Amino acid sequence: MVKKKAFITGINGQDGSYLAELLLEKDYDVYGIVRRNSIAEHQESRINHLEDLVHTEYGDLLDVSCLERLLRTIQPDEIYNIAAQSHVRISMDIPSFTVQSNALGLLNILEAYRNNCPTAKFYQASSSEMFGRSVDDDGYQRETTKMEPTSPYGCTKVFGYNMVKHYRFAYNLFAVNGILFNHESPRRGSNFVTNKVVKSAVEISLGKLNELPLGNLDAYRDWGHSKDYVRAMHMIMNHTEPDDFVCATGVTNSVGDMCKYVFSKLGMDYKDYVTQDPRYMRAEELKYLRGDSTKLRTTFGWKPEYTFEDLMDEMIFHWQDYYKGPKY
Ligand code: GDD
Repeated sequence: MVKKKAFITGINGQDGSYLAELLLEKDYDVYGIVRRNSIAEHQESRINHLEDLVHTEYGDLLDVSCLERLLRTIQPDEIYNIAAQSHVRISMDIPSFTVQSNALGLLNILEAYRNNCPTAKFYQASSSEMFGRSVDDDGYQRETTKMEPTSPYGCTKVFGYNMVKHYRFAYNLFAVNGILFNHESPRRGSNFVTNKVVKSAVEISLGKLNELPLGNLDAYRDWGHSKDYVRAMHMIMNHTEPDDFVCATGVTNSVGDMCKYVFSKLGMDYKDYVTQDPRYMRAEELKYLRGDSTKLRTTFGWKPEYTFEDLMDEMIFHWQDYYKGPKY
């Protein structure tokens, strides 16, 4: 049987690496692009273990000719657009770059898709940040919630979401949005709050660090595991018709709750170490986020396998194990 081919932008990121593993398990040929940076050793650290199994090329969402060439020659069955400038607060420091990568970049790959392989399916990594400050009366955000983004990042994701729907209807393409709430893992970048807290708490417990400066401790987020969320991506792509789905656990915790759990697991009180630093505060903060993924659950039977506590435990174990390694 001919293998299906998947093309992943952002294959070397947290989600891209778990998605590549899932698609390999499902016997896909997996292709992906990696942005060039000056430290070659770090570029593929999340997918080094897949080196002989996936096909990677240097590429960039801002380089239309490269996207056109790759989609024309590979002729993928499924395209997953996961690459982005994905940090909300940093999007306030580099708004123009964020717009170019996330909005113009999405348009570039949508055009390359329409021109070169329109029978393929297209997945866009949309985000709960699109809803921003708008929350339904019952405290949840869902597919029908009004979109009122509160950051350059959120604004770019609304653009992407709408373009994908426009291309779906205008050109009859199988182009879909997964609207994902926060999803984490040991592979999360350490400037996102979960990995920052866990890594620093483990370092404090080992005497390598004295304090942990954070931003808003009262922000609530709906945190799931990236592995559960890439399963949802594949389900959404393989639905009978193109549609958009929210993916969330429905459980919300504050940053303070997370600190309390992680530090107490390590035998410490977070109040002895956590400080508040204005550098990590946001110009406009989203206080309370919780997603309703009823549509995803009833359509596909999706449910998360990881609880919040399982996720934190896995991340704690990861950093403890890391510091036991030969380097240390
Ligand atoms: N990063 C960070 N660093 N966040 C902090 C800190 C800190 O020191 N202190 C408190 N926070 C708070 C933020 O203000 C925010 O309310 C919450 O922790 C989560 O921040 P992040 O982990 O940076 O994630 P995010 O919610 O802004 O965005 C993530 O989730 C979105 C929804 O899935 C990103 O992954 C986005 O790309 C994604 O779309």
